[in-house]
Amino acid sequence: MNLWAIEDQTHLQMAAFIGRELAKESAPKEPEMQHTSVLYQEALGLLAVKPGGLYVDATLGGAGHTRGILERGGRVIAFDQDPQAIARAREMGLSGLTLVQANFANVQNELVKLGIIQVDGILADLGVSSFHFDDPKRGFSYHYQGPLDMRMGDSGTTASEVVNTLPVERLAEVILRFGDEPKAYRIARFIDQARKAKPIETTTELAEIVRRAVGYRTAGHPARKTFQALRIFVNDELGALSKLLEAAEKVVHPGGRLVVISFHSLEDRVVKQFLKDSDTFEALTKRPLVPGAGEIAANPRARSAKLRAAVRKEGA
Ligand SMILES: C[S@@+](CC[C@H](N)C(=O)[O-])C[C@H]1O[C@@H](n2cnc3c(N)ncnc32)[C@H](O)[C@@H]1O
Repeated sequence: MNLWAIEDQTHLQMAAFIGRELAKESAPKEPEMQHTSVLYQEALGLLAVKPGGLYVDATLGGAGHTRGILERGGRVIAFDQDPQAIARAREMGLSGLTLVQANFANVQNELVKLGIIQVDGILADLGVSSFHFDDPKRGFSYHYQGPLDMRMGDSGTTASEVVNTLPVERLAEVILRFGDEPKAYRIARFIDQARKAKPIETTTELAEIVRRAVGYRTAGHPARKTFQALRIFVNDELGALSKLLEAAEKVVHPGGRLVVISFHSLEDRVVKQFLKDSDTFEALTKRPLVPGAGEIAANPRARSAKLRAAVRKEGA
């Protein structure tokens, strides 16, 4: 029995209980859905949805934000690299919605294929959804035993392949850079030792190896940072984000909006720097918007969210 998991779960349940009423007000949570949209009102407000306008939701997920745009009279081209997210949304049968199963890094090409040159806005709510975290088969969570996969899409290298094949120095760099894990080198050495005996195939095997390397005295679960690092690496999350932002400079028409919700400092830094350097976009948020205490209590996964928004300058 994993004591860390119990402690974290209890905390999540208590927080969810306290904020349940507030959640009803702020974001849609269908009975059949398990993902609560983060910074829902703020994101839609800053996207400034116009009836009849055309918007890209770069990260469909549970379709919460997409529904919000549709309800405000907008049309949506929604991207997700996860075929399961696309299939779920298809079943919703929403009108005004076009679904594209693709990495948002390719947003411009995919829009061209649909005969679209420019849109009124792009919304990106980055990272993984609760559907990913809560499904042991996807291998994102150290709470559940599952194959060490971590791919959001259905192709590419799995986390298991990464931990079993990356040279130990490179593995340490990945854990340090994407996890900001001070014990990255020690963890990489422990992984290397373990994989010499037998390939590391499950989430719980890896979590246990990391726990032994890090020890118990950490804030949160000892494997949290390592899992984050592997997920970012496996999905090339920062590379895809940079490509999306680059494409937004061409795809959003003048006066149109760009809204990005990020969940860790590496992502937020990319967005912040992009807006600082951009001649095309003017930031609408001098500082990022963050969820209030009520939203965090209702949805603890929102706690690290940061929203930045910008408008494409006229004539740019
Ligand atoms: C946080 S969830 C979005 C939740 C959504 N806004 C909602 O309200 O339900 C992020 C989704 O984006 C997808 N995603 C993440 N990175 C992606 C990328 N580079 N290309 C396409 N989809 C991506 C994930 O598969 C996931 O379903």
